[in-house]
This record gives sequence, C-alpha cells and structure tokens, in this order.
Amino acid sequence: MKFSILRIAFLSATSFIVALCFTVVPCEAQNPTIAPANYDEALVPQYVLPDPLVAEDGTKIETPEQWREKRRPEILELFKKNMFGQFPEADLSKVKSEETVSVSDSLGGKATRKEIKIYFDAPNEFPQATVLLYIPNDRQGSVPVFVMPNFQGIHTTTDDPSVSAYKVENSTHNLDKTLDDVRGKAKSRWAFDMIVSRGYAVATVFYEEIEPDVMCNFTRGVHPLFTNFDLNADDYPATIGAWAWGLSRVLDALGSVDGVDVKKAIVAGHSRLGKTALWCGANDERFAAVISNNSGCGGAALSRRQFGERVDRINASFPHWFTKKFHEYGDKVDQLPIDQHELIALIAPRPVYVASASEDLWADPKGEFLSALNADPVYRLLGTDGFGGVTEQPDVNAPVGATIRYHKRAGGHDVTDFDWEQYLNFADSIFKK
Ligand code: GCU
Repeated sequence: MKFSILRIAFLSATSFIVALCFTVVPCEAQNPTIAPANYDEALVPQYVLPDPLVAEDGTKIETPEQWREKRRPEILELFKKNMFGQFPEADLSKVKSEETVSVSDSLGGKATRKEIKIYFDAPNEFPQATVLLYIPNDRQGSVPVFVMPNFQGIHTTTDDPSVSAYKVENSTHNLDKTLDDVRGKAKSRWAFDMIVSRGYAVATVFYEEIEPDVMCNFTRGVHPLFTNFDLNADDYPATIGAWAWGLSRVLDALGSVDGVDVKKAIVAGHSRLGKTALWCGANDERFAAVISNNSGCGGAALSRRQFGERVDRINASFPHWFTKKFHEYGDKVDQLPIDQHELIALIAPRPVYVASASEDLWADPKGEFLSALNADPVYRLLGTDGFGGVTEQPDVNAPVGATIRYHKRAGGHDVTDFDWEQYLNFADSIFKK
C-alpha cells in the first residue's frame, strides 16, 4: 500500500516535470487595463521639448554638415538606447526571396499581382513572410512603390480568393479565426485599385509574419536572428524594431522585381505599424519618404503632452514594443532625452506625411501635429521648405504642408480612401508626376 502510494506520487511528479518540459509556456498576455488615458487638455503639463538643433554638449547646430555628422547620429543613438533598440545589420546571405505567384490580369486587368516569399533565415525556411504586390500594367519602365505592412494577413486586404492565406503560429490577430472568415475583412484600408490607377505599385506584408505581436522574451519571429545583441543591454532591439527591420527586408526583396523602382519607395504604416514605419524610415535611408497614419504614442505623438495613450500606459500594455529603458520613463517623460518630433527630424530632408483622425483622441491628433511642426527647423536647415509655413493645426479634411505634410481626417482610427488620396497626391509631388 505504502509502496503504491509512493509509486503514484513518484509517477505523478515525473509526469508533471515531463509535462512542464514539453508544454510551450504561453506568452504573456497584453494587459490594456493599466494607467488611464488622458483626454483633458487641462491636464497636459507644461513641457519643454528637447531642441533637435542643440547637441548634447550644447553646440548649436547651424549647418547641414553639423546635423549630418554630429546631431543626427546623436539623436538616432538616443532613440536606440532609450526607445527602440539597435537596428540590426542584415545578414543578407541568410535573407532570400522568391516569387511564388504572378498573375498578369489582376484588378480587372489593371495590375500584375505577385506574391514574394521572404525567407529570413535561409536555407532554413523559418521564419518567412509573404509579400503581396500589385504593379500597374499601364506604365512605362519602373514605378514608385508604397511598402505598408498589414494587421491580419494579406488575404484580409482583398476579396480576391486567389490571394494566399497563411496562419501564423502565436499570432494575436488571426489565430482563432478560419482563414476564410477574415478574407477581405480589411479591404477598406487597401485602395489597391486607386493606387494602381494612379501609377503606383503597392506591397504589403502581414507584420506578424515578421514577428508575432506578443511578449515572449524576444524568442519568436526574426528575433532569434539578432544574435549580436545582449538581451540585457539597454539597446537590445525591441519588437517595433524587429518589424521595422523586416520592412527593410521587404525593400531588399523588391529590388529584384521588374517594374518596381526601389529608389522611389515610400514606407507607410497605420497605428503601431505607423510607429514602425517612422522607425524604419529613420534608419533605412533608402526609403525616399515616410507616411505615419494615426501612429500616436510612441509614433508621431509627443510623449511630453501625456494626452490620449501615454508612455506609462503603452509600456504596460505592450511591454515588448520598446526597450526596457523606455519603461523607466513612464512617470518621468519630461526626462526623456528625446521626443517624437525628433523621430520625424531623423527622416529629414526626405518628405514625411503625418496623418491624424479627428475622433482618434487615443493617438493625440494635436500631439501628432505638434511633432510635425517641431521637426520643421531641421527640414529648413537642410534646405527644404519644411512644413511650408504652417503654424496652426488645420480643420478636418484640409491637408497642409510642403515637404512635411499633415492632415486630420474626419472620423476614427482607420485608413480610408481619403487618406490614400492624400498619400497619392503627396507621392505625385515627390516624384513629380
Ligand atoms: C493600441 C495601442 C496603440 C496602437 C494601436 C494599434 O490601441 O494602444 O498604441 O497604435 O493599438 O496599433 O492599432
């Protein structure tokens, strides 16, 4: 009797240990309940923004050379150390791409639709991502391209049943739905017909194919490839950085596609992917321009305003998006050595578009506008017309600006045809179409 109780105890302990070894520990759940948002302008504190044209040693930056050689690298490093982490060099011997689909009569004959697979760790085929690409058929030579990640999979961007659909392990966005349930679900955000009719190509990739949007101690997606970094270092690349790095790999892959001019590529993103687009454009100067659509806290919105979502709140809900160091600033954003107008300044002199939506207070439209405005001195120093003399936030649906552009669309957190019309006008003005 004694023996069998002991035996049962032993066996259950062993199976418990075995189960522990073989169970995949679930990634930490996001916890969006911490730290309330602020929607009261009266609670916006007095603040002083860091001056992008004064170096850390107090030197005034008065020439484009000083910006390029001294201040820009300094600001970029501050963002790496305090917010996003390093932007890894790509080991291009490991990143491979291959065209898997090409259909010449897509969008009623207006476009060639392609799918391009990127293997981030070739010859091991995992992780990998599939880029959906439309190229206008009515064109001469190569055309500019928008590179914009999507939230739920390429099959959600169009009703076209021939677009491939993939499930992603550990995805937060299409995990528990059958793929056909979500086909075309996000198509209102993807004005493919309009884009192609205006003479542009457009490429989109599911961001969670680059890396799942989960806190997993950076063990998923492309992170295991970043072997040169110490997980405990302040500048260990965080997840927004991994997505941004992935968008650069999309640009690499487009380099070998006929009809696409990668010297005329615009990186764009909505919301968390707008933050990603800004960080990608700041690091990868091959992108000719950047679009931030409703990117909000950690994107275009000034942290110091503490309006809408705030730094403490975003760090609590999405701990993996930013470096550990950024978490230290939750209750002392005034001590951040950078603010988000400087993220925009890092894109200078290349054109940048910051877009807000009137009802999207969570993303702080005013804070997004003020970032654009406060990047203007850098754009001017570099010889551009900057914000074009804009000083006041415009009314709804009234786009303003010059090399820096801004609009506040009427409505909520979204990407609409109105937004795309403005982005196409912006692209026309850059590429002189
Ligand atoms: C959440 C998050 C935002 C983010 C948004 C999105 O609302 O708090 O910071 O921009 O998700 O990506 O849709």
